[in-house]
Amino acid sequence: MAKENEIKLDEIHVGNEVFVPMISEEKIQLRLAELGKQISEDYQGKLPIFIGVLNGSFIFMADLVKNVSINCEIDFMKLSSYGEAKISSGNVRLLKELNADINERHIIIVEDIVDSGLSINYIEKLLEPYTPASVKVCSLLTKPDSLKYQVKIDYIGFEIPNKFVIGYGLDYAQKYRNLRSIYVLSE
Ligand code: IMP
Ligand code: MG
Repeated sequence: MAKENEIKLDEIHVGNEVFVPMISEEKIQLRLAELGKQISEDYQGKLPIFIGVLNGSFIFMADLVKNVSINCEIDFMKLSSYGEAKISSGNVRLLKELNADINERHIIIVEDIVDSGLSINYIEKLLEPYTPASVKVCSLLTKPDSLKYQVKIDYIGFEIPNKFVIGYGLDYAQKYRNLRSIYVLSE
């Protein structure tokens, strides 16, 4: 029996807009196994610290570190979000600072998606006063066609077209983060 607030999984209707499946749960998990293996090899003998960017990265971060087979630590920072919109306001603010001491540490910044690159660019500037041993960026998704800032993404889950996506941590006006796969706005 369909309940009123239950999410139908073949199509997601948000007002007049429709989101359709793009990357399945299974495909995400297969890719995370590869990424986790690669990171474990690259950081062999080191103790990396994964820094998740809230809120979007929380599910990706959890599933990613479950695929990492070396010792690691985690921390989170929080940036201001898009609010209710599908397009970035162009402003980023820091809403929650890091708690870990990152000096001399191997840092892996974990993002749900790199769109314009503004957020990653902002984080890299925040880290400038510190002296980490290394800094790499891992993003589940990138939209290469919409990059505006020069940022290097070291680990990429999937490159996607310049379209708005939801699910698996990614929201639309704070909702749909709990979807197990990724959905794209259909035109
Ligand atoms: P950037 O600063 O323009 O690179 O945007 C990065 C942030 O914007 C991500 O961490 C997401 O929170 C959000 N974002 C960008 N594209 C999307 C999208 O397609 N769906 C949901 N959130 C997005
Ligand atoms: Mg985000």
